[in-house]
Parts: sequence; structure tokens; C-alpha cells
Amino acid sequence: MKGLQYLSIILSCCGLSLSAPTCDYKMIEDKYVCLMSDSASEGKIIGSHNETYGDAHVYRVTTTDEANKSLIGKVISLYRNLTIFQIPKGNIEAIIEDDFVNCTANLVELQICNGDLNTIPADVFKKCENLKSIDLTGNKLTIITKESLPNIINKLILSKNQIKIDMSNIFEVGNNLDALTYFDLSGNSIETLIDSVLPSQRLIHLDLSNNKINELPGAYFDNNKNLEVLNLQDNHIASISHTIIKELTKLKELRIGSNNISTIDAKAFQDNEIIEYLDMSSNPIETLNANLLKNLTTLKALNLFDIKITNTSLEDLKTTLESLINLEKLNISKNIIGPIDGLFTKNEKLSVLGISSMSLTELEKDIFSALTKLESLNFDDNEIVDLPENIFEKLTEMKNFSAKKNKINKLKASTFEKMTNLLELDFTGNEIDAIESTFFDTLNKLKVVRFSGGNKCFNSDFEDFVLDEATRVKFYKCFENYNSARTVVISNVLLAFVIIFKFI
Ligand SMILES: *[C@@H]1O[C@H](CO)[C@@H](O)[C@H](O)[C@H]1NC(C)=O
Ligand SMILES: *[C@@H]1O[C@H](CO)[C@@H](O)[C@H](O)[C@H]1NC(C)=O
Ligand SMILES: *[C@@H]1O[C@H](CO)[C@@H](O)[C@H](O)[C@H]1NC(C)=O
Ligand SMILES: *[C@@H]1O[C@H](CO)[C@@H](O)[C@H](O)[C@H]1NC(C)=O
Ligand SMILES: *[C@@H]1O[C@H](CO)[C@@H](O)[C@H](O)[C@H]1NC(C)=O
Ligand SMILES: *[C@@H]1O[C@H](CO)[C@@H](O)[C@H](O)[C@H]1NC(C)=O
Ligand SMILES: *[C@@H]1O[C@H](CO)[C@@H](O)[C@H](O)[C@H]1NC(C)=O
Ligand SMILES: *[C@@H]1O[C@H](CO)[C@@H](O)[C@H](O)[C@H]1NC(C)=O
Ligand SMILES: *[C@@H]1O[C@H](CO)[C@@H](O)[C@H](O)[C@H]1NC(C)=O
Repeated sequence: MKGLQYLSIILSCCGLSLSAPTCDYKMIEDKYVCLMSDSASEGKIIGSHNETYGDAHVYRVTTTDEANKSLIGKVISLYRNLTIFQIPKGNIEAIIEDDFVNCTANLVELQICNGDLNTIPADVFKKCENLKSIDLTGNKLTIITKESLPNIINKLILSKNQIKIDMSNIFEVGNNLDALTYFDLSGNSIETLIDSVLPSQRLIHLDLSNNKINELPGAYFDNNKNLEVLNLQDNHIASISHTIIKELTKLKELRIGSNNISTIDAKAFQDNEIIEYLDMSSNPIETLNANLLKNLTTLKALNLFDIKITNTSLEDLKTTLESLINLEKLNISKNIIGPIDGLFTKNEKLSVLGISSMSLTELEKDIFSALTKLESLNFDDNEIVDLPENIFEKLTEMKNFSAKKNKINKLKASTFEKMTNLLELDFTGNEIDAIESTFFDTLNKLKVVRFSGGNKCFNSDFEDFVLDEATRVKFYKCFENYNSARTVVISNVLLAFVIIFKFI
């Protein structure tokens, strides 16, 4: 309890600095001007100086125009208490030690993004004794050495540069970057990971996505036992061995999607016992071994989109899904696994499900009956004609329903009536020619309806319409015209349907 009291004192003290002003640094008539605002002013400019705030009160500066080099030293020297300095874009080609000569221990976070920096000189940040977070996204760096970086740094973002070689030049033996916990090297040109381990044993978040990595050396991550997030998405990796992530027992999130993975050792994930998020999408995996994922019962999100599995993996998929009882998001779209009857019987926590592009011709009546928490369902791009009576009866939480590009030809009110929380409904590109008159009666929260392309009667007016009263009337009229023009056909084919909308 005492601890809590102290905490609240600390918070109230720091609350002051939280309401301190921030500064959008903008060029006005050839001069940079600090446009100050604070939380009390709700973003309104309160002027660069007023009796309440002076330069020393500014703790965040963001440059709003393209910034050039001359402003760095100026800002650093003027705002002595600056904590966060952000240059989101600019034409800064180089930084030198002198730019930061007046840096204080107050500066914690620095961003110099989307400029032309191609090197970071050694010791440039030496005066910034407390600089812990550096973001250099979108520059032209080809190399970075440990001497350029403060040894207390814990967050380093080098995304979208031109770094080609592996990290051994940053992390030489005896390196001093052992406070680093967050490291983003996404969007560079790294091809090989030299089999030298990443030394920062504190790394929690490592992003190597969007590079050209073609191989993962067996023990590469062995020293990074604290990793919780590992992103290897969008590389050229061909296989996942038994040992590669074996030591990563704290891993919560693993992304290996959009690679060229055709083999995954059946024991590859056996030691990642607390993993919650796994993206394997867009790889030529072809056969799914039931033992691969079955034990990952902590999984909350699984993306198996386009992993080229066929109906031969259906039983393995079934066994897998039966044990993944904590899944909240599942995506098995763009695979051909044949009829999916009884696939989701144990996944009661699912809130998002994707089963699009699977050549499904029908859906079994009970397919969704365990999914009482489902909020988003997507079965676009299949060949479904009929929706069985009561198929959606348990989906009372449904918010986002998408059935684009199927062959659905009629909509009965009773099929959808339990989806009383529905917000978006998408039937674009079906063959709907009959809608029961009471269809929208229980769907009181519906905001957006999409009905164009392929559906009879519906035209561009209804591509993406908000279901207000006026549109309903227009929608109804359109259908009525269609109806009267085709009375004979409809009365013959759809005797049971009342194709007139009733609106109060
Ligand atoms: C940087 O901007 C200042 C202020 O407009 C200008 O005077 C200076 O010439 C610019 N420097 C370069 C190198 O573009
Ligand atoms: C100075 O800023 C404070 C806080 O937003 C505001 O209440 C006050 O009116 C401002 N004074 C002037 C002269 O702009
Ligand atoms: C600026 O920071 C110094 C310590 O570096 C502190 O003593 C002073 O109170 C701060 N001023 C403001 C206005 O926050
Ligand atoms: C650093 O501060 C000194 C003293 O205030 C000043 O003369 C100098 O111009 C500053 N350096 C930069 C790069 O602005
Ligand atoms: C993907 O892997 C296969 C072998 O499994 C290889 O033939 C092919 O060239 C690889 N494709 C790319 C883009 O690396
Ligand atoms: C899955 O768990 C079972 C029982 O704990 C164990 O025997 C088996 O080796 C595990 N399989 C994998 C691939 O992790
Ligand atoms: C898988 O589909 C193929 C044709 O698409 C079919 O010949 C085969 O019998 C199916 N196998 C199973 C196990 O359903
Ligand atoms: C399934 O994953 C693919 C690829 O990541 C994505 O484009 C698609 O939107 C996902 N579908 C659902 C329903 O989440
Ligand atoms: C519904 O899903 C579509 C695509 O699947 C997405 O674009 C849209 O943002 C979602 N809407 C809501 C309310 O989740």
C-alpha cells in the first residue's frame, strides 16, 4: 500500500511535465518557429512563448516541414530540457559531433527519418548521456558500427536503409550494446546471417522482416533467450530446422510468413510453449504435420493463409485445431482442403475467422455452431450457392460479415436474423436476385452494406452504402422495379419469397 502511495506522488509530480507543451517546429518566412501546444490547449497553438511556458518547458520537438541539417544543433541548444526530438522527414545528409555538442542528459529519444544519412560517425552522440532510443528509418545507411551508438541504447530502429551485411559489425565480440532490447532492421538488404550470435542477451523484440535472408544458421538466436517477438516475414528462407528457435522459450510472437518455406521440422516449435501469435502465411508448405502445432495450446492467433495445403492435410488440420482451444484469430484462406465439416468444434474463443478462396461449394449447417464469440467472418471467393437454414444462428456477436464473390442467389431473413450486432455486410459479386422482405428488420446496428457487382438489380448506387432511411427506400425501389419487370420469372422460381421490402 505504501508503495502505491509513493507511486501516486511520483505520478502527480510527473503529471506536471506531461502537460508541458510540445513544439511543432515549422518554417515560417525563412525562420523556424516553435508552434507550441499543450494538453490544455487541445492542440491549439499557444505561441512560442507565453508567461506560462518558456523554452525550458519544451520537452518534445517535432519538425513539421522538411528539415535540413542546420536545425539540429539549434534545437538541441535552445531547448535544454528536450526529451524527444523527432525529424520525421528531411534532407539531412550527414550529422556531425558538433550538432550534438550541446546535448543534455534530458534527451532520451531521437528520430531522424526519411533523409539521406549514409553514415553515423563514431561518438556523435557522446554528449547525449541518456539517449536510449534512436530511430533512423528511411535513410541510406549501408553500415553502422557500435562506436556510433550510445552504449545505453535500448531501442534501435534502422528500418528501410540499405544495410547489406549481417549484424556482426554492430555486435562485435566485446561489444557494448548489451542494453538493447528492441532492434528493427526490417526493409534492408541483408542476405546472410553470419553464424555469429547476436550478443545482446536482453533483446526482446527483433525485426528482420523484408530483407533477403535465405538461411537461418542453426544456433543463430541461441544467445537471445529473452526474445519475445521475432519477425522474419518477407525473406527467402526455405526451411525451419529443429534447432533454430529452440532456445527461445519466452517467444510470444513469431512471423515467418511470405518466405519460401517448404520444410518445417515437426519439432521446430516444441520448446516455444507460451507462443501466442504465429504467422506462417504465404509459404509453399504443402503438408501440415499435426504434431507441428498441436501442442501450442497458448496460441491466440494463427495465420495459415496460402500455405498450399490440400485435402490430404484435412485430418491433420482437424487434429491441430481441436487442441488449439485458445485461438481467437484463425486464417486458413487460400488453401484447398475440401469440405471443412466439423473443423471448428473446439475453437469457442474464435473472434476472427478467414476461410476465403478455398473452393468451398457448400457449408455444413453446424459448421459455425461452436463459435459463439465470432465477430468477423470472411468466406469471400468460394462457390457457395445456398446458405443452410440456421447456419448463423449462434453468431450473435457477429460484426463484420463478408461473403464476396460467391454464388449466393437468395437471402432469407431468418438466416441472418440473430446477427443483431452486425455492422458491415458484404455480398459484392454474388448472384442475388431475391431478398426476403424482412431481411433488415433485426439488423438494427448495420452501418455499411455492399451489394454491387453481379447481384441482379443492384447497381453502382449500392456499391458501398450506409444503411440510412433514404438509402433503404432507394434500395427498395430498385428492387421493386426489378421485381415488376420480372414478375413472371420470380413468381415461378421463388414462390416462397416475398420480394418486397417493408419499411416503417
Ligand atoms: C537550411 O534552412 C535554413 C533556414 O531556412 C536556410 O537558411 C539554410 O540555407 C538551409 N541550409 C541548407 C544546407 O539547405
Ligand atoms: C499561455 O498558455 C497557457 C496554457 O495553455 C494558457 O492558459 C494561456 O492563456 C497562454 N497565455 C498566452 C498569453 O497566450
Ligand atoms: C529542466 O531540467 C533541469 C534538469 O536538467 C531541471 O532542473 C529544470 O527544472 C527543468 N526545467 C523545466 C522547466 O522543466
Ligand atoms: C552550443 O552552445 C554554445 C553556447 O551556448 C553556442 O555558442 C553554440 O553555438 C552551440 N552549438 C550549436 C551547434 O548550436
Ligand atoms: C524456393 O525454393 C525452391 C526449392 O524448394 C527453389 O527451387 C526456388 O528457387 C526458391 N525460390 C526462391 C524465390 O527463392
Ligand atoms: C507434444 O506434447 C506431448 C505430450 O506432452 C509430447 O509427448 C510430444 O513430444 C510433444 N510434441 C511436440 C512436437 O512438441
Ligand atoms: C482430394 O481431392 C482430390 C481431387 O481434388 C480427390 O481425388 C481426392 O479423393 C481427395 N482426397 C480426400 C482425402 O478427400
Ligand atoms: C488472411 O491473411 C492474409 C495474408 O496475411 C490477409 O491478406 C487476409 O486479410 C487475412 N484474412 C483474414 C480474414 O484475416
Ligand atoms: C471488416 O472487414 C474488412 C475486410 O475483411 C475490413 O476492411 C473492415 O475494416 C472490417 N470492419 C470492421 C468494422 O472490423
